[in-house]
Amino acid sequence: MTANTYDVADRTVLVTGGGSGIGRAIARAFLDNGARVVVAGRRRDALDETLAGHPTEQGLAVETDVSDDDQVRDLVRATLERFGGLDIVVNNAAAYTSGEFDELDLDGWRSIRSVNIDGFVHVARHTLPELERSGGNLVVVGSVSGLRGDWQQSAYNATKAAIMNFVQSLALDYGARGVRLNAVVPAMTETPVTADAAADPETLAKAVDRVALGRIGQPEDIAPAVLWLASPDAAYVTGAFLAVDGGTSASTGQAH
Ligand SMILES: NC(=O)c1ccc[n+]([C@@H]2O[C@H](COP(=O)([O-])OP(=O)(O)OC[C@H]3O[C@@H](n4cnc5c(N)ncnc54)[C@H](OP(=O)(O)O)[C@@H]3O)[C@@H](O)[C@H]2O)c1
Repeated sequence: MTANTYDVADRTVLVTGGGSGIGRAIARAFLDNGARVVVAGRRRDALDETLAGHPTEQGLAVETDVSDDDQVRDLVRATLERFGGLDIVVNNAAAYTSGEFDELDLDGWRSIRSVNIDGFVHVARHTLPELERSGGNLVVVGSVSGLRGDWQQSAYNATKAAIMNFVQSLALDYGARGVRLNAVVPAMTETPVTADAAADPETLAKAVDRVALGRIGQPEDIAPAVLWLASPDAAYVTGAFLAVDGGTSASTGQAH
């Protein structure tokens, strides 16, 4: 991504799940465009790798489990201590699960919910007061899975739908308070989560068959949409779902 394409220089940005996949691409795109970036996730080495190659004063890695409200509170404290404010939050961290509903035990459900839904609530409740102070905004990495159903993905899809509805409802509640909330909506994107599926020609062909543009997404396809939503160019955009899915969600879902 070309540096200085998006007006986010000197903004302080928090990216959850910034140590891999889509979150890493988003964090690096903000860094390339001159923002200060805090990356959060459970694996310290992965976070450090995201920041590698950028000036140390531009980045901060904070080991955080977003399912733990205290850890998210400490993450926001560490961000404010280091950079003195917070302008943009990217809620990207998520867990994934698939399988038949009757194979999903309660521990499994609570586990995915604790990261995907509770994690969002923790991030939102500790960062929205700061965004209100800075006139900032929050971008959620949603999914086409949050728009409708998928076979054998009921739990994951339900969690993505929940946080996408939070985006719409909180956009209403926070609009008058000067905070915007939006979601980018990817379809299958090549990351560690989808690596096995992408490496299997039959599975990949099925996935590509649903994409108008004829290929699955790359993390670098998603990042520019996040930067645009977070930038002043999108000052009149809130409560929006921006599909970055190669046309996947334009379809009724019937095979062609
Ligand atoms: N790949 C796709 O096809 C696709 C499609 C649509 C939407 N999405 C969405 O894109 C986002 C990124 O996914 P991805 O594909 O890039 O997968 P990924 O590489 O596995 O990224 C997920 C990130 O979340 C972090 N994470 C997981 N649990 C966490 C926790 N409890 N606390 C803090 N961080 C946690 C992981 O880091 P640690 O393990 O170090 O904590 C990891 O860096 C997700 O919201 C996903 O739902 C992905």
